[in-house]
Amino acid sequence: MALSLKDLPLAEIMRRAFEARIVVPAYNIAHIPMLKPIIETLSALRCFSLVEVARPDVVQFGAGSIRAVCEEFRKAGDRGVARLHLDHAPVIDEAGKRFDWKALIGEALELGFDSVMIDGSRLGLEENIAATREAAAMAHAAGVPLEAELGAVLGHEAGPLPPYEELFRTGKGFTALGDARRFVKETGVDWLSVACGNIHGAISEADRDKAKVRARIDLAHLAKLRKAAGVPLVLHGGSGIERESVLAAIKEGITKINVGTQIRQVYERRLKETGLVAAAGQAVADEIATLTREYFGIEGSAARLAGR
Ligand code: 13P
Repeated sequence: MALSLKDLPLAEIMRRAFEARIVVPAYNIAHIPMLKPIIETLSALRCFSLVEVARPDVVQFGAGSIRAVCEEFRKAGDRGVARLHLDHAPVIDEAGKRFDWKALIGEALELGFDSVMIDGSRLGLEENIAATREAAAMAHAAGVPLEAELGAVLGHEAGPLPPYEELFRTGKGFTALGDARRFVKETGVDWLSVACGNIHGAISEADRDKAKVRARIDLAHLAKLRKAAGVPLVLHGGSGIERESVLAAIKEGITKINVGTQIRQVYERRLKETGLVAAAGQAVADEIATLTREYFGIEGSAARLAGR
């Protein structure tokens, strides 16, 4: 086995992570100065993670552009502990409008992102399959893995959500088992984002500073999804999920967990309090260290994934 993760393709690292049930967190870069302290912390703790950027990070927050995040990643990056992922290229966006996902994925592939995501979850099943199949062909031609979403991880849309307990009890938006099996087989997707109790933190101007509801995972449903899908599963809405739920979900096949709101709010709050970008960056570094050591418990995961 390789001694360092540096030279391994991301697809292989994620396969190993899935088999060994080692989670790979994916941290959203909502502001460019968050990136360097994240990478430095991951390097110090020898923990393998992804950094990722989604359209809301660019449009709603301060990521600038996917190119800007990519350039910062090239400067700060340590490929032994981190790779760069394009999060959520939507077919239908948060406001319900059609979006040119092909242009966004094409740009990310040209920039050399290590993996990309298409989000066809606001489409019907047939259309989601068709778009995801096309995106898989684009990503695979560039030699990188594709993530896609099936079911609805709610929370990014404008307008109020039903109460969380009602969502959980009724299973609104949960990924359907039969659909998952068919979706993976017919699209060639590499990692599947599923809905099973997780919700996204709000991004609207009115709600972006609010504390997220404490979510939990329907573990019985997740176990069935893993068997049906047979590929690494992704949990969006990673901020503020009960720890026991998260650890159990990792055992059930969740390989990638997206964390956005929690680290963005830490950064923005500290920046507001101090007016200092460096202090805000330090607050993010501290949060990543706590997540790595105490929440996920994955300090040193790079060595385990490299087989040492
Ligand atoms: P949170 O903002 O709820 O952590 O979710 C992040 C996410 O899933 C980005 O795709």
